[in-house]
Amino acid sequence: MKNIGVLISGGGTNLQALIDKQGSVIKSGRIVCVCSNSAGAYGLERAKKAGIPTMVIRKNADCGGDAEEFSRRICSYMKDMQVDIIVLAGFMAIFGGELLKEYSGRIINIHPSLIPSFCGKGMYGLKVHEAALDYGVKVTGATVHLVNEVVDGGKILIQKAVYIQDGDTPEVLQKRVMEEAEWIILPEAVEMVCSGRV
Ligand code: GRF
Repeated sequence: MKNIGVLISGGGTNLQALIDKQGSVIKSGRIVCVCSNSAGAYGLERAKKAGIPTMVIRKNADCGGDAEEFSRRICSYMKDMQVDIIVLAGFMAIFGGELLKEYSGRIINIHPSLIPSFCGKGMYGLKVHEAALDYGVKVTGATVHLVNEVVDGGKILIQKAVYIQDGDTPEVLQKRVMEEAEWIILPEAVEMVCSGRV
């Protein structure tokens, strides 16, 4: 059994999908902690409801805006909780440093487009779906990948396509991509990594 640590920033619907799929899709790991970079993240409530320990580490308020310190603090919490695999489930901060070095090849991210489209620095949240609609693509989707030093640039684990429909707004599209792709492929990819199939 691998110990999974989840990093979040917001609503935590992807975290919820991971919690719900423990024991069914995720058989080789269990979530041992959830860490947020925002104190108001609703995902923290989801974790508490599921009896999972939580922590808040904020780059500005707790680390004086220092990216290295932010990375170090998260890394030391993950190590304290004996985390083997880290999942970024809607984690809206970029980090490098110690965390990336210590957990190299063991950090998973979900991105709401088919990489290499609509990804990279500055492409997060609704902006991704706005960009897809502006471009006029007919198919988008989600990608789960390993994290390396290039933003959204690590090895792709799973992708799933989602059709764009006439009249889609960024909000409507975001919801469809979550329901039809993200909540399905993130638990699958986590199991792939936990079971050593990567
Ligand atoms: C998701 O679209 C995820 O792909 C992106 O941020 C959103 C997070 O949603 N990185 P939630 O917090 O899991 O509900």
